[in-house]
Amino acid sequence: MHDVCAVILAAGEGTRMRSQLPKVLHPLLGRPLISYPVDLCLGLGVKRVLLVVGPRAEGVRQALAGRPVEFVEQAEPRGTADAVLQTEMALAGFRGIVLVLGGDTPLLTELTVAGLLDAHRRARAVATVLTARVEDAAGYGRILRDRRSALRRIVEEVEATVKEKAVREINAGCYGFAGAALFAALKRVPVSPVKRESFLPGLVEVFLRQRRRVHTVEVSDPTEVLGVNTRAELAQAAVVLRQRVHERLMAEGVTLLDPATAYIDATVTIGPDTVIYPGVILQGATTIGAGCVVYGHCRIQNSHLADAVTILDGSVISESEIAEGCVVGPYAHLRPHSRLRSKVKVGNFCEVKQAVIGAGSKVPHLAYVGDATIGEKVNVGAGTITCNYDGFAKHQTVIEDEVFVGSNANLVAPIRIGRGAIIAAGSTITEAVPPDAVAFGRAPQVTKEGRAKATRQKRQAMAPPKSDEE
Ligand code: UD1
Ligand code: CA
Repeated sequence: MHDVCAVILAAGEGTRMRSQLPKVLHPLLGRPLISYPVDLCLGLGVKRVLLVVGPRAEGVRQALAGRPVEFVEQAEPRGTADAVLQTEMALAGFRGIVLVLGGDTPLLTELTVAGLLDAHRRARAVATVLTARVEDAAGYGRILRDRRSALRRIVEEVEATVKEKAVREINAGCYGFAGAALFAALKRVPVSPVKRESFLPGLVEVFLRQRRRVHTVEVSDPTEVLGVNTRAELAQAAVVLRQRVHERLMAEGVTLLDPATAYIDATVTIGPDTVIYPGVILQGATTIGAGCVVYGHCRIQNSHLADAVTILDGSVISESEIAEGCVVGPYAHLRPHSRLRSKVKVGNFCEVKQAVIGAGSKVPHLAYVGDATIGEKVNVGAGTITCNYDGFAKHQTVIEDEVFVGSNANLVAPIRIGRGAIIAAGSTITEAVPPDAVAFGRAPQVTKEGRAKATRQKRQAMAPPKSDEE
């Protein structure tokens, strides 16, 4: 597509969002709105991508850092025609097609836009407008045609008569223009007396008055042209995008038990025969292998799960790695940099952070494992805590292979427990334990035979039991 330069309009104020955040930075399935048209253009392989932004666009620049795009500033939002005009210098001498897209139409597909560009080339038109027939045209520019159904003009909703508003063919806000003719014509677009802005669709009339050919292409799927101006439309766009993600995943062999309650970012990959239960949220750069099961109401973010992993209900996993055959949860919390080697079990109400847990080891109940390295085949008893923080700094706990840590132990870091050692239940361990040792870190038990009975009798003598009648 080296005959195409793309111009993406993102300098509007987005007032209808009622937000501190610029409209095009609102996230949609884990990515800012603006990244959709930008990635579409980059995906098409156009020659250059120019973004028209407002003066306070630092956030937009940051959000697109690393993508090969150029920024052009529109000092004041004087309308979409004025916005395109700002690229005149940058595109001086360009004789190919200028593809113009709104920054707020995230559902357009490469196929549709490529089709528009093809049609534009074939029609040898000066402009080609993407249109759609929609159920509810409110808010969009309406396509007005003459009796022979040739395009006459596009009227914006704010200027439309009642009869014009009844038209259900709308302007998608996506156009191909002949670069050689575009900028001269833009200067002839009038400022709307109603909105005090110059409307890009006004170019149609300018070109038709010059007796030049303006072509239209209707999209086959009208959901693609949804423009996001409000939060309600943002939610609508998310529904469509989620459905696309779900359809792709299901085609790839993933079972989604309830697609309506699955929230899976477009960036997530999942292997075949994995089953996703209702209410699961999978975010960011997460990858899940084959034959896994993720039960209900889990959230997994930027994490990698190998094959045959089971995540039980209500678990939260961030920036972690889980090797094949592990079982996590229910209600486990794997915080960043948790690495579970193969066939590890992290059970109910356990928290793991910045820790490696070796193959076949088990942390089954109510434990905290933080800043730790645990070897293979270790058993960490219920309620065990790695005491990693002394109020000033974090310290490491090392537990070597085949260690058995009894229930409710406190391992005060920095500490090392040698291979095969046994830690008695209820211990507070503050000193290194050598391999194969048994360590008791608790007060010895004192047992007084018969003392309970004697105590009971003494109490009864002091105060006879209360009668039931009281
Ligand atoms: C626009 C079209 C409308 C079309 C609809 C499709 C105009 C006047 N109307 O309406 O015909 O049906 O899109 O979604 O073009 N922008 C700037 N600078 C400005 C004003 C806007 O860069 O001065 C940008 C916005 O950030 C946005 C895009 O242009 O990304 C469209 O502007 P918006 O105000 O959303 O236009 P709509 O009213 O949706
Ligand atoms: Ca819009």
